[in-house]
Amino acid sequence: MKTQEEYLQGLKRWLRDTEDVPLEEMSDFFAKRLDDYEERMSIWEKSYRLMAEAVPDECRKILDLGCGTGLELDQIWKKDPNIEVTGVDLCRDMLEKLSAKHPDKRFTAVCQDYFQYDPGHEQWDAVVSFESLHHFLPERKKELYGKIYRSVKAGGVFILGDYIACCDEEETLLRDVYLSRRKRSAIPEDRFVHFDIPLTMAHETSLLQSAGFQIEDIMDEDAAVIVCRKS
Ligand SMILES: C[S@@+](CC[C@H](N)C(=O)[O-])C[C@H]1O[C@@H](n2cnc3c(N)ncnc32)[C@H](O)[C@@H]1O
Repeated sequence: MKTQEEYLQGLKRWLRDTEDVPLEEMSDFFAKRLDDYEERMSIWEKSYRLMAEAVPDECRKILDLGCGTGLELDQIWKKDPNIEVTGVDLCRDMLEKLSAKHPDKRFTAVCQDYFQYDPGHEQWDAVVSFESLHHFLPERKKELYGKIYRSVKAGGVFILGDYIACCDEEETLLRDVYLSRRKRSAIPEDRFVHFDIPLTMAHETSLLQSAGFQIEDIMDEDAAVIVCRKS
């Protein structure tokens, strides 16, 4: 088990070693890695199961933001195959793989940016998102969390599974490198690129609370699972 100091040293080394590698456009990044994507993500298996367990038993309708090939949905549908799901993702290839895996489920694929998608008002028993939102700055997430809050039914939940920074130093370091690499490559503001900029747990939960959610449970695994309730 690495200490925090060893982890940060390794991260800084990796950032130096990769500083000249061009940032890839988000959807292309995932499309290119589709073949071994599920195998790579299998390291989060426990967190996928925890997310499924946190879905309330009475849940009928779920919105999944950044659903990819639906590893969290594999677990959620194991628990209840009748749940109706709308999955939003930028990457058409990922959505096609998900639909092919689950031809018998009630699934609607939406190939769209979730910041642009209109989730409606009090529509969903649960909104979920796994390992997708750590690619975005807190200002954007704050706006999205407000939209998610309005779209969840009263008493419903938002379950966020994500990479959480171990400390302020990691959060600041990654954000600074992200912003400077975007600037150096003159990447337009509206272009999504793949680079991880996780927030600390304190920062993430304060954004969720400022949207109106009550934090009901935090399962602090390698990919943390945060259960938020709209009362
Ligand atoms: C690491 S994958 C996680 C996929 C899935 N939730 C899982 O855990 O297997 C991140 C996904 O988020 C999607 N994504 C990233 N930014 C997005 C955005 N702004 N709108 C919609 N999807 C997005 C990517 O295309 C990718 O499929």
